[in-house]
Amino acid sequence: MTHKKIIITIDGWSSCGKSTLAKQLAKALNYIYVDSGAMYRAITLYFLRNHIDWTHTKAVHDALENIALDLVYNAKSGQSEIYLNDENVEYVIRDLVVAEKVSDVAAIKEVRQFAVAQQQQMGRKRGIVMDGRDIGTVVFPDAELKIFMTADNAVRVERRFQELYEKNPNITIEEIKANLELRDYIDSHRDISPLRQAEDAIILDNTNLTEKEQFQRALHWAEQKLAAKNPA
Ligand code: DC
Repeated sequence: MTHKKIIITIDGWSSCGKSTLAKQLAKALNYIYVDSGAMYRAITLYFLRNHIDWTHTKAVHDALENIALDLVYNAKSGQSEIYLNDENVEYVIRDLVVAEKVSDVAAIKEVRQFAVAQQQQMGRKRGIVMDGRDIGTVVFPDAELKIFMTADNAVRVERRFQELYEKNPNITIEEIKANLELRDYIDSHRDISPLRQAEDAIILDNTNLTEKEQFQRALHWAEQKLAAKNPA
């Protein structure tokens, strides 16, 4: 009998450590990891660079026709990196300039349809861990394991600050805090696919957990779901 794979979704607020956990789980299970936020960030980067007026549906529609997103495995880093029209943009999309606009772009219906169709295609064989905001509710409502991550605001701000400060020492904690609060607000109040916890998601509050502790907890849940899917 073949071993059946599952889909793991990780949704939650900005800077809760979703991608860290998703990468660890994907590695442990030998699954594909997809950072769905990177797709919205790459689309935003394209819109900014090409001065697309995203308040106009036709402009958005035409721009999306010219966007090809790919996830390419980098053997050196051991991770997939996102390519926008054959250019590796994995690092430039983390910039605050992109972060400041991404929630507005991600609220556009056409943009979501474009990204969600590709995400669902990536998961058609299961064996995938995807993190984002609507993965357990909209992209894979039938996922076997859904995790909803949360952490105290101050902890999230500090974590994101440490991450961005390494690349840009001019960044301030106030800028980061304002950006996180604004993104959380827009992401959870938009009309289409707002951030919310799926009814069957397990909450993981990592305010007081180490990376190792949260990973062990989540891996245990995944193992339980796998055992249920593959009875002896
Ligand atoms: O996870 P992240 O911070 O890289 O995501 C960037 C933005 O993209 C986030 O502010 C909201 C949006 N996003 C979304 O709307 N749906 C997803 N599945 C993933 C991200």
